[in-house]
Amino acid sequence: MNILMINGSPKGKRSNSYKIASAFVEGVKNNTEVEYEELQVHSLNIKPCLGCFSCWSKTPGKCVINDEMTGILEKILWADLVIWSFGLYYFNVPSKMKILIDRQLPLVLPFMVKEAESGSHPTRYDMSNKKHVVISTCGFYTTKGNYGSVDLMFDHFLGKGRYEKIYCAQGELFRVPQLSKRTDEYLGYARQAGEEFVSGSISDETKDNLDTMLFPKETFEAMADASWGIEKETGEKEDEAYTFTKQMAALYNKSSYKGKDIVLEMDYTDIGKKYQIVLKKDGYEVLKDNFKEFTTKIETPFSVWNDIAAGKTTGKDAMMKKQYKVKGDFGLMLHWDDYFGSTKAQRASKSSKAGTEQKKTNMMILLLPWIAFWVAAAIDSYVGSIVSIAVCALTALLFFKNKKTIYDVLSSTAIIGFSILLLLIDHANIIIPVSYLSFGLIWSLSCLTKIPLTAYYSMNNYNGESALENPLFMRTNKILTFLWGILYVLTSIWTFFLMQSDFSVYTAIINNILPIAMMIFTKWFQNWYPAWYAKN
Ligand SMILES: Cc1cc2nc3c(=O)[nH]c(=O)nc-3n(C[C@H](O)[C@H](O)[C@H](O)COP(=O)(O)O)c2cc1C
Repeated sequence: MNILMINGSPKGKRSNSYKIASAFVEGVKNNTEVEYEELQVHSLNIKPCLGCFSCWSKTPGKCVINDEMTGILEKILWADLVIWSFGLYYFNVPSKMKILIDRQLPLVLPFMVKEAESGSHPTRYDMSNKKHVVISTCGFYTTKGNYGSVDLMFDHFLGKGRYEKIYCAQGELFRVPQLSKRTDEYLGYARQAGEEFVSGSISDETKDNLDTMLFPKETFEAMADASWGIEKETGEKEDEAYTFTKQMAALYNKSSYKGKDIVLEMDYTDIGKKYQIVLKKDGYEVLKDNFKEFTTKIETPFSVWNDIAAGKTTGKDAMMKKQYKVKGDFGLMLHWDDYFGSTKAQRASKSSKAGTEQKKTNMMILLLPWIAFWVAAAIDSYVGSIVSIAVCALTALLFFKNKKTIYDVLSSTAIIGFSILLLLIDHANIIIPVSYLSFGLIWSLSCLTKIPLTAYYSMNNYNGESALENPLFMRTNKILTFLWGILYVLTSIWTFFLMQSDFSVYTAIINNILPIAMMIFTKWFQNWYPAWYAKN
């Protein structure tokens, strides 16, 4: 496929729209062989159309102006796909791109197309198989009401419904490195659109993602104001760390407010500057002085924040490398993405509206079959085995809406296996301890895999699967999973001996008390360990 990208932004390759258009081209290239040419309109030698109509009468198909336009028209004819990329300028394309568009007159014939509603000219060449994609960013918070004249123009010269378009508001955010997480996510959707486009058509889901605003209006406007690095009151250039703090504060998602104001102190240790962000019910405030008592304080060199912003490291990795310390309440850090990850919140509310909420895991699916087996089979092998098999089936039914993990499947399979074995050989005093041992081994051995068992379930409380990328979350879960595993391996040993002894009646009591104690410990450890790690 021959692709021609026409980038009309005067900023050339620094253009926001060009970033999206390039991601789209990358996607196309992923799925097909491509010959690629690109025009940076700002650097072309093209003069405005003279309106002489010579290209229609005196020199049909040829313009009288001798500049680079002749080669450009050849490239347009060569392309199977033309990508029109530009930033919105006064509700239309930038002026030099308009020159290029006007200068396409030699590509059409002078005659009138009678069927056309408001007048049109037939093409001089066969353009019927040529595809077009229009990609543009604009500066306001929304594309709505901004693209009327662009749509009219392209509808006329490309044909209504005969081209794809990607319009993205808040375009200037593509140049803010601190926001690259969100803008990179958007570029990912543009790449996907390219892949899908060349394989048939862009899916509704991808279109939906591309139509979703980068940030909510309020967040965008606060960030856009902060991004200039200028004091609103005085117009003076402000301290970089203050600008950074304001931009971070702008990301605050007030729906995560938990009934109490939070004072987050940002202590930039290498430059000796300190600012506070007060997270309130109905917004936030950034303090330069008159500081309040902090809830959470992050001590970090500003250079580390810059590295995080530039994508050289992540906040989570920086913490693991002990590049920053956290003092005070660690709760904010555990739920950082809830407070400052407005994209996720946006998407979550969007997907729940569309009825496509992400399925959650549930640890009860894993635990219920084991509990049923340990309690029921210990009372009566025969009835207990049947009850356990029934519980496996019932669990699958009851939790059909939840996402199943490999450990849920493994648990049901193991319990059905143990129950059948118990029905066949009736040696509860061996089979029950062996079942505890298997349970303990499943937990311990999962620590050798990438995701320890508890992480699959506790991620529900920490922003779902994104928690799996948090090394501290994973380390905490690895320790907990291992401790639970050991507990059950040991349980198998004492259960074996207790079941042979006169104290066998106490087995169930001991085996229930210990996990309760362990559950209390787990709750405490999940908060204490990350806080302890970050403080030292
Ligand atoms: C002269 C000028 C006119 C603009 N007109 C509009 C406009 O009408 N509507 C809008 O939302 N943004 C407008 N913007 C903002 C740009 O569309 C926005 O910065 C865009 O992301 C630039 O894209 P680019 O980097 O690809 O050139 C304008 C910017 C400039 C410099």
